[in-house]
Amino acid sequence: MPRISDEVIKEVLQKTDIVDIISEKVSLSKKGKSYFGLCPFHNEKTPSFSVEPERKIYTCFSCGEKGNAITFKQKTENITFVEAVEDLALKANINLDFSSYKKENPNKKYYEINKDAENFYKLFLTSTKQGTVAKKYLYNRGITDQIINDFNIGLSPNDYDVLYKTLSNKGILVSDLHDLGLVKQSKTQSFYDLFRERIIFPIIDERGNTVGFSGRSYLETDKESPKYINSPQTIIFTKSKVLYNLNNAINEIKKNNRVVLFEGYLDVIAAYRANIKESVASMGTSLTLEQVKIIKKYTNNVTICYDGDPAGIEATTRAIKLFENERIQVKIVLLPDNLDPDDYLTKYSAAKLNTFINEKWIDKIEFSYLKNNMDIDFSKMLDIEHFKKIIFDLIKNTSNTIIESYIKRLATDINVSEVSVRQDFYQYTKKNIQNIGERYKRIVPIDSKYLFAERRLLSYFLSDVKYILKYNAEFGEIFYIDSMTRDIKHIIEDRHYKNLENNIDSEISEDEFVKILNPDQLRFYNSKVKNKMIDLLDKEYDDLISAIQEYINSHLQLEIEEKIKTAPTIIEKIKLAKYRDINFKEAKHGKG
Ligand code: UTP
Ligand code: MN
Repeated sequence: MPRISDEVIKEVLQKTDIVDIISEKVSLSKKGKSYFGLCPFHNEKTPSFSVEPERKIYTCFSCGEKGNAITFKQKTENITFVEAVEDLALKANINLDFSSYKKENPNKKYYEINKDAENFYKLFLTSTKQGTVAKKYLYNRGITDQIINDFNIGLSPNDYDVLYKTLSNKGILVSDLHDLGLVKQSKTQSFYDLFRERIIFPIIDERGNTVGFSGRSYLETDKESPKYINSPQTIIFTKSKVLYNLNNAINEIKKNNRVVLFEGYLDVIAAYRANIKESVASMGTSLTLEQVKIIKKYTNNVTICYDGDPAGIEATTRAIKLFENERIQVKIVLLPDNLDPDDYLTKYSAAKLNTFINEKWIDKIEFSYLKNNMDIDFSKMLDIEHFKKIIFDLIKNTSNTIIESYIKRLATDINVSEVSVRQDFYQYTKKNIQNIGERYKRIVPIDSKYLFAERRLLSYFLSDVKYILKYNAEFGEIFYIDSMTRDIKHIIEDRHYKNLENNIDSEISEDEFVKILNPDQLRFYNSKVKNKMIDLLDKEYDDLISAIQEYINSHLQLEIEEKIKTAPTIIEKIKLAKYRDINFKEAKHGKG
């Protein structure tokens, strides 16, 4: 297969306005020669994603993603290189035929066969006597002809091998039908259909290919067999790597910048009826990392709306963890009375379901509070203590407002005074802080060059946003020796980002800045930072960064030493020691 020539690629990039392309997905604001916005490749609240129209590239200072208009399109739209170039060429009015560069999808024949099967099932539902009965079942559940059409719902006949015969007669090989799991072979060697007398839900991948099917039994008489039968794993179908309805939902997901995740087919359909169209289902099995990664391509915001029964709550807990690890924001909808979304719609109304999902969601702290609250036995002191610690850990890094409101609730729920819960909380968190403090003392004396470096960096942060961006890219936003410095840095950061949004210059005026500080911060600022904003040099900045890096290394090394000491087995100790020797050799030699 020929490759697109470098000249063509160059021309396409040349004639493409990268700001234009990226603006389709990221809202950008101009700052000097560059544009800034929220990075689409990772989740962030403050913009560190920059686009340089002159060099025609984008860079994220925080997660490190970078590239040109082609890579941007490829990554955000999940398309191939050739497809990206073709789209851009079309936009730039370059008339070229790209078909010879595209390789034929090797699975094309399978997709076509599945499409044939899908059409067969659809026709069978809409044009047969059996179909009339099945449709009655669907209508009873509120599924209209319009929905049947939109979701390509079908019906498999109440016969042994109608699909097999129909498709074979069209010239489709039985081996292919067998590969797709559509037909099975009996002991007597004859072939028969997998789905018989079931309502068929085609499962369609991101690109619109029908990759598998799920069939639901619907007759009163059919109580013995499983509710759903699914296509087996095939060359083109792995259940754990697909999300039901994603194909239909993609545009809505992008538009609303969120996805609503359900357990089942009928729940997605219920949401659709409630006008929530950015809906997908993980299809009953527990959510997988692959599915999370697929979601992440389109949005960083997920609303989990699993069934309201205990199994659904457990599944929600697992899903939250998976999303959290991928830094996806979650909201949780907890439906009442063990209902699933479809039941809820039937019991109340589509409008009520819409309101419940859009307005009655809770965050993960609240979810965890409610769940743990449900689980504890209030007659057992140990249970209460355990519950308290879980909640303390949940809230300790949040705002004072959140901390206060949960302390109040906790006090009511475990029936003790607010004062004592508050005391417990501060004791508990102080103990944690002290632990870390103890460790620090053993490697770094207070007021060492590290603390100095951290404080000195504040001057740099104040002087230009670029220093903060570089720092965050290097260390993330969490690591801090001293919490006062951390708080002040956050204030500086907010200020810069506000300026960025309003296209104001990047330096922050000291007069303006000190007005935002609280008295403690002001005192600290006046004694440790003020009047030191002179002689700011990139060289010194780099040295300060090195000092911080050195500190982190020695801190990590100490943690490893602790782990070695407490490791339960010799093998574990050896493993950790090896890790230490590889990663901290220099520090070790330095100690001599
Ligand atoms: P549910 O049992 O909650 O079914 O399973 P549902 O979607 O609410 O369907 P109705 O309302 O009873 O008709 C949730 C999902 O789990 C998968 C399906 O994807 C289903 O939509 N599942 C369930 C199976 O694959 N096999 C089963 O036997 C049951
Ligand atoms: Mn249901």
